[in-house]
Amino acid sequence: MTQDEMKKAVAEAALEYVKSGTIVGVGTGSTANMFIDALAGMKDDILGTVASSEATASRLEGHGVPVLSLNDALKQVDSLSVYIDGADEFDAGRNLTKGGGGALTREKIVAAASDQFICIVDQTKQVKHLGAYPLPVEVIPMAEELLMIEAKKLGGSPILREGFTTDNGNIIIDVHGLVITDPRGLEDHLNSIPGVVTNGIFSHQGADIVLMATPEGVVTL
Ligand code: 5RP
Repeated sequence: MTQDEMKKAVAEAALEYVKSGTIVGVGTGSTANMFIDALAGMKDDILGTVASSEATASRLEGHGVPVLSLNDALKQVDSLSVYIDGADEFDAGRNLTKGGGGALTREKIVAAASDQFICIVDQTKQVKHLGAYPLPVEVIPMAEELLMIEAKKLGGSPILREGFTTDNGNIIIDVHGLVITDPRGLEDHLNSIPGVVTNGIFSHQGADIVLMATPEGVVTL
């Protein structure tokens, strides 16, 4: 089974968590794209979706799936029923790193507005400690050098994501070389640095359920 076949299998398995008549939060990335393609078959059953990026909104709209802004959605309902998204890494505590596609801030906002976060991954994303995948940090451009200095103090090697601007008009600094043994502490610490919009550790907004594709089938963790 190829990695793409595993992504498709887990994306389709996530449909089980989509309830009729609700608003669904939708993530960003290649696995989320496969979920969007599968969700298109249910577009008449759901009230709508909230997208975690402009790219996701375009793909949903391309399938004719209704897309609402989060603010409009939360005027209709107290919370989204479910948020479905991929991840770059996950650990045994269902802490995640995300933001490989640069959509981490909107992803974290939509996850926070949802009752349940279903993370859809293939088995290559499972790690003992987060950090092997460079940790993205979204930063207001003025704070670029400040974040570089602070990341080095943590033992990381920060690299500006060249030629990339987030949907919010900010930059991403990818911090390489971290071994993250305290995901929640590091998430809080990085977010306390002035100029940081958010970082790609999802511990406060960790997954409620991880659906992991393996060559033998999809496993629920
Ligand atoms: C985008 C993300 C993605 O969920 C993450 O990068 C995984 O992507 P893919 O499903 O393409 O492997 O956080 O910001």
